[in-house]
Amino acid sequence: MNYYVLTLFPQMILDGLNTSIIGRAVKKGLLSLEAINIRDYADNKHGKVDDYPYGGGAGMVMQAQPVYGAYEALCKRIERKPRLIYLTPQGRPFHQEMAKEMAKEKELIFLCGHYEGIDERVLEEVVTDYISIGDYVLTGGELPAMVMMDCISRFVPGVLSNESSGEWESFQNDLLEYPQYSRPKEWRGKEVPDVLLSGHHEKIEQWRQNQSKERTKKWRPDLYIKYKENQKKTSL
Ligand code: ADE
Repeated sequence: MNYYVLTLFPQMILDGLNTSIIGRAVKKGLLSLEAINIRDYADNKHGKVDDYPYGGGAGMVMQAQPVYGAYEALCKRIERKPRLIYLTPQGRPFHQEMAKEMAKEKELIFLCGHYEGIDERVLEEVVTDYISIGDYVLTGGELPAMVMMDCISRFVPGVLSNESSGEWESFQNDLLEYPQYSRPKEWRGKEVPDVLLSGHHEKIEQWRQNQSKERTKKWRPDLYIKYKENQKKTSL
């Protein structure tokens, strides 16, 4: 997977993703990450990339020209027109299944806006997916782009260790993950549940499944309803 990020803050992207699991995957050549500074494509010598909004209102708008310049130069260089994701609170809500599907792409471009947004005309020209990471407003698209790249990368073969990639995780079958414990057996008077020490795999599976259901019911009743509905459908 090759990621390209069009941004006014390239260092933020590199600082945020070049460590830990994603950094290791980049070093191994499983992923590549390029942060492209939109300002480098401004057609004025001051590197100005924003202007006042037509019709008035607070803040500034990122202009179409430098965004399009950065996009066009990239597509020309890589000789492809990949899917382009624009991060915006107005987009479709991001979720795990979407990440899995996007991980099948060979490359993805992320466009990060700032200020009051980007001139609509360039968005109409270049964006294939408008995506939000939740119902709250951030100062720019860089953190949402990093959230998406982190999540998508987990589905790129080889990024996670073999053991963990096939493992149970939250949102599988619309249930949250069960609680985990490690050594010591007792910590501050709290014991690890007996069943986990029993070595009885079936019982452990049962217990974990029950914990998942209880957690989902308590913390994410919306997901639990979805889970129950799917259970009903599959038993028909
Ligand atoms: N830009 C600002 N807020 C955002 C959000 N919640 N999701 C995606 N992009 C954003």
